[in-house]
This record gives sequence, C-alpha cells and structure tokens, in this order.
Amino acid sequence: MSNKIRAAITAVGGYLPDDILSNKDLEKLVDTTDEWILTRTGISERRILKGEGKGTSDMCVEAVKILCKKRGIDPSEIELLICGTVTPDFPFPATANVICDKVGAKNAWGFDVSAACSGFMFGLVTGSKFIESGAHKKVVVVGGDKMSSIIDYSDRATCVIFGDGAGAVLLEPTTEDFGIMDSILRTDGSGRQYLHQKSGGSVSPATHQTVDAKQHFVYQEGQAVFKFAVTNMAEVSAEIMEKNNLTSDNVAWLVPHQANKRIIDATAHRMGLSSDKVMLNIQKYGNTTAGTLPLCLYDYEKQLKKGDNIILSAFGGGFTWGSVYIKWAYDS
Ligand code: UT7
Repeated sequence: MSNKIRAAITAVGGYLPDDILSNKDLEKLVDTTDEWILTRTGISERRILKGEGKGTSDMCVEAVKILCKKRGIDPSEIELLICGTVTPDFPFPATANVICDKVGAKNAWGFDVSAACSGFMFGLVTGSKFIESGAHKKVVVVGGDKMSSIIDYSDRATCVIFGDGAGAVLLEPTTEDFGIMDSILRTDGSGRQYLHQKSGGSVSPATHQTVDAKQHFVYQEGQAVFKFAVTNMAEVSAEIMEKNNLTSDNVAWLVPHQANKRIIDATAHRMGLSSDKVMLNIQKYGNTTAGTLPLCLYDYEKQLKKGDNIILSAFGGGFTWGSVYIKWAYDS
C-alpha cells in the first residue's frame, strides 16, 4: 500500500468478426502459399468484418459491452474513452465519439489516438495519467482496426498479414502496488516512408487519380519495417526490464504486438523468456494493428494471476514503439 494512485486494468473485452479469411482463401486471390505465409509470419487465418456500413466502431462497441458486463458497470459510468485506431469510421469525428454514442457512454468524453500498431499502448499510457492524477475513476481504452478497409487484396506483400478485430480494457484507480507501473514510449517520424497510406490526408486529398493509383491502401516496405521492428521492440522490452529490476524469472508474460511471429520470437529471446511466457494469437487473427495487445489480454485473461509481472511491447507505423510494465491487479 502507498498513497500513490496507480491505474489498474480491472476488466478486458474483445471482439473478432465471424468471417474467416484463411491462407488457402488467399492462395486464390494472390500468388502466395499457405506454407510461405505460415513460415514467414506465423499466420494461418485472419478475421474480416463484413456488412454494409460496418466500421471499426462496431467492433469496439462489442468489446466495450463485454468489458462493462464483466465488471458489472453501466456504460454511463465511463468518464473517458480513448480509441487507438488508424482505420477510424470517418476522418472526423473521432471513432471514440461514435463508440460512446453507440454504447451509451453518455457521460464520457473521448478522443482517438493515431499511433498505428502502438495505438492501444499509447492510449493506455495516456488513459493511466487521467487515473493517476485523480481526474477520473473509470477510463476505457480501446484498440481496434478494420484493416480490411485499407488493404489491397491484389498486393501479396500486405494482404496476407492484416486482419480485423478490437479489444478494450477498463482502467480504475488503486492505492495498492498493482497496475501500470512504468512505460517507455517512442516515435520516429523519419520512418514514415516505410509504412503509410499515401493519400486521403491533407497532403494528398482523395481524387479519382489517387483512387486509380491505389493510394488509399497500406503501403509497406516489409523488410525495412521488419528490421526496425526487431531491433526496437527487443531493445525497448529489455530496457523496461532493466529499469524495473525485472528478470526472465520474475516476468510472467510478454504481451507482444502480433505483426510477425519472427519479431515476437526475437523480442522474447532478447528478454530471455521461454515461449510458454509469450502471448500468441497471430495464427488466428493476423495483425489487427491497434487490436493486437488487448486481444492477447482478452484471450489469455483466465491464465493471469494477481501480481503477475507483464510486459506489453509494440512497434508500428510512424514509426511508433514502446513497452509498458504492468503488475496484474486481479485473479480471473
Ligand atoms: O505491424 C506493423 C509493423 N509491421 C511489421 O512489423 C511487418 C514487418 N515485416 C514483415 O513482417 C515481413 O517483412 C513480411 C511478412 C511483410 C515479408 O516477409 P519477408 O521475409 O521480409 O519477405 P520479403 O519482403 O523479403 O520477400 C521475400 C520474397 C520476395 O521474393 P523474391 O524477391 O525473393 O523473389 C517477395 O516477392 O518473398 C516474396 N513474397 C511473397 N511470396 C509469397 C512477398 N510476399 C509474399 C507472399 N507470398 N505473400
């Protein structure tokens, strides 16, 4: 016990659309094989959100509903909702606003965080500050992306990797030594050339030409991103361990961004962690961008114990990356 207020995760929710796009399905769309995708990325299948008028908010809403039900709270009790996404429902207003409206969080304010695959992590740290300061007692952080809305399904370099999904956590205050203990966050805008969406922003607004040139899809130089991701995710994870006197023995779980199994393995190796301590669901969902971290927590929640030392780690477009150290606050 201390007087310091910490932000603890007290509930987790997640949502995956029903439609499955398997590696075999992709073999029919582009020149690829199940074997190539599996060995190079670790992905077997991913989920796709279908349905006219369905967007990122619809997945986030389901995740938030689950979380509220689990914790036994009414959405009207949420004071702040932060949504990490790069596939907002609209350029504006923020998807957070739409989620609040659809879920009935009528007393909340909210905003979106654009940090690609680190969007949930950046939102989590931001949200924790509103708890630690005493400003709010119930903050929801959502990470979700409908990546299928910005993927070119004739580009084998990107279409095999991404999927749709969303996850959410509730943050509440505690004066016990649990919750979000530390974080290291980084951005490097010079990396934007390797992973971005060329048009649709103020530099290059949508025209017939930008659409014809497929400039509203994800552009990625995979190998370059891979090199930065491996180095930075591994380094920042090791750095947060050293800073907090954590060792491979007293870290219970690594919660890594699910971009490529080879990046996850390299990060775990650098931290000295065996594979049984690494959360992994990339095989089922692919890379859901801001959705990966909360969806890992959602899938593994039952295995988490109060007091577990957990390291979240992510790397994404921007570049953005970082690590968060959490002491898990409850037994499921
Ligand atoms: O989450 C946000 C951050 N993003 C990441 O962290 C992604 C990081 N990058 C990666 O995960 C990997 O770079 C990819 C999975 C995107 C690609 O894997 P890679 O091992 O780096 O492949 P590569 O781009 O170096 O391509 C190797 C070969 C090339 O053929 P050649 O030139 O050697 O004949 C590609 O054309 O594999 C080819 N290739 C494919 N072959 C079959 C590329 N994509 C495919 C494919 N199926 N889908």
